[in-house]
Amino acid sequence: MLVSLVGLPGGGKSTVGRQLARRIGASFLDSDAVIEERIGMPIRSFFEQFGEAAFRDKEEAVIDELTLDAARHGRTVLATGGGALLRPVNRQHLRDRSTVVYLRSSPEELFRRLKHDTQRPLLQVKDPLAKLRELYEQRHPLYEEVAHYSVDTGRPSVATLVNMIVMQLEVAGLMEKSPDHLPGKPSTGHH
Ligand code: S3P
Repeated sequence: MLVSLVGLPGGGKSTVGRQLARRIGASFLDSDAVIEERIGMPIRSFFEQFGEAAFRDKEEAVIDELTLDAARHGRTVLATGGGALLRPVNRQHLRDRSTVVYLRSSPEELFRRLKHDTQRPLLQVKDPLAKLRELYEQRHPLYEEVAHYSVDTGRPSVATLVNMIVMQLEVAGLMEKSPDHLPGKPSTGHH
């Protein structure tokens, strides 16, 4: 079973993804980390040297591979880059090969979290809040289109978000109900 997390930058895809993986006994993959390994430099430098389209090509190849491989193996949680849904082929791969969870956050909330970020190329602009609003306008419909489930990241803690996702997976019959809700304790299958 593959669970993919999508949403705008700063919404917690990697943090929630890592905790979710630990909680359900899954392996964790981060498409941006895999891309950085392959290109041998930070994404920001790659953007500066080769431009966004070249990055999207790398991203498309990695999303294709990871969703194909992971879907064939055991439990995996995949955190994707915020722009991974821009290309229709990525939307199709994620939707068809995984259970997609949208971590939905408002531009204002993301701005509070990302004010001091220097690594995200798209946000190194004069008015990052305006940029986040623009990204939200453009991408929110795409995240909604692809997601099987959504959770609002506004108030809940990471642990609560993880619980909410686990509950959705259980209700959907994608995972056995865990016998208890101790963090980090994978389901034993007895309940
Ligand atoms: C991007 C988001 C980044 C990364 C790249 C482009 C985007 O990932 O893939 O900088 O287009 O929103 P995060 O969502 O993890 O920041």
